[in-house]
Amino acid sequence: MTNQSAQLIIEGKSYDIPIVESTTGERALDIRQLLKQTGYITFDSGYMNTGSCQSAVTYLDGKNGILRYRGYDIEDLATNCLFIEVAYLLLTGELPTQSELEKFRHDMIRFALIHEDMIHFFDHFPPNSSPMSILSTMVGSLHDFYPEMDLDEDPYGGVTTMTARLLSKIRTIAAFSYKKNIGHPLVYPRADLSYCGNFLNMMFDRPNMPYKVDPIAVSALNKLLILHADHEQNCSTSTVRLVGSAGVRLYPSISAGISALWGPLHGGANAAVVRMLETIQADNMDYMKYINKAKDPNDSYRLTGFGHRVYKTYDPRAKLIKQACTEVLNSLNVQDPLLDLAQEIEHVVSNDDYFISRNLYPNVDFYSGIIYRALGIPTNMFTVMFALGRLPGWITHWQEMHMDKESSRIGRPRQVYTGVVSRPFVSLEDR
Ligand code: ACO
Repeated sequence: MTNQSAQLIIEGKSYDIPIVESTTGERALDIRQLLKQTGYITFDSGYMNTGSCQSAVTYLDGKNGILRYRGYDIEDLATNCLFIEVAYLLLTGELPTQSELEKFRHDMIRFALIHEDMIHFFDHFPPNSSPMSILSTMVGSLHDFYPEMDLDEDPYGGVTTMTARLLSKIRTIAAFSYKKNIGHPLVYPRADLSYCGNFLNMMFDRPNMPYKVDPIAVSALNKLLILHADHEQNCSTSTVRLVGSAGVRLYPSISAGISALWGPLHGGANAAVVRMLETIQADNMDYMKYINKAKDPNDSYRLTGFGHRVYKTYDPRAKLIKQACTEVLNSLNVQDPLLDLAQEIEHVVSNDDYFISRNLYPNVDFYSGIIYRALGIPTNMFTVMFALGRLPGWITHWQEMHMDKESSRIGRPRQVYTGVVSRPFVSLEDR
């Protein structure tokens, strides 16, 4: 809180609105007492101007393309860290020491199995079920399979049994859902493999074709997960906080976040980008037709993978993913015509006034799908991959929300009512 305030004048009466300041100097009007003081609420659909909480996790400057987790630059983390180190950083506020990392790594191995009874669930989803619906259902059901976790320790502090279990098991659930989807036998987690190596092995190992964990694939996946690990108050994270604010426990709150991420305007965009590129490829590579459709004010079509609510410059994650994309495809010796197409589209769009004037740049999803394809991950698993990456961020925000009395109040927005004011009841016979 600063000592300063803004003056709000409503119908000739003046009110002092306190000003709060972030540690990086951004200022906000503190309207928590506004309704009590003035009888007015604010109207802000889509929360374009609303700060819903105070948070010490992630700093994002959309104008200058800066993203930091706990004060560390995203590029440093993505270049130098393991995903589980970054998860630890988000959860606890500090990078782990060697012994803390060893213990965390051990937790990831210890908790990797899922209760055998959960495996029956996979059998009863209809064929071709979406891996996102399976993931959301299975994560929600962890609440019933591992209920003791809620009671055995303070659930809100850093790395707990509950958070470590979830971080480890989500990989197993994700890989099992893929194996069930393609009708292959399940591959269980191994104690000798890293977090990412284990996931890839559970996805691709087969009894008749053993999978050799490729360090290039592990490193690419590690980087992608880090780049997705948190992004402050986005749609799915705000969902986790909102659901959690009603007193809902961790696993069902995360399940709600997974559902929010599913949408094509959010995490579902990575799969939508590849489908868009495939459509253009099948349409004789006529990308100008689709760029022009996206620019047409009478057409609701959008170029998926472009634009962002907060970034009004190049998304720093997209910059790193674009670079990684070329490196990974070269190292794995994969030729993907979709990469050339994506680069061609970006080149045209970056010189087009429509996109320049609206600050529409590639976002995190534009190139990530091309890397996943090169790793052999099918399109319907892309958003699951995003969920694996975002999980530490969701858990951290759920914990932070509970530790902060102010923001752990139940989330309950107001509305501006536009319906009929009042009318007399009409009985069924008279309607
Ligand atoms: N293609 C063409 N035009 C676009 C695009 C796009 N991808 N995105 C925005 N615009 C235009 C809009 O039509 C609008 O134009 P207008 O001012 O002439 O009406 C203007 O840019 C502003 O768009 P808004 O919808 O107001 O921007 P908002 O911040 O609400 O939306 C969003 C952000 C949802 C990401 C949007 O850019 C979009 O739909 N992009 C495509 C989907 C996508 O890639 N989503 C992934 C986002 S990243 C993530 O969630 C992980």
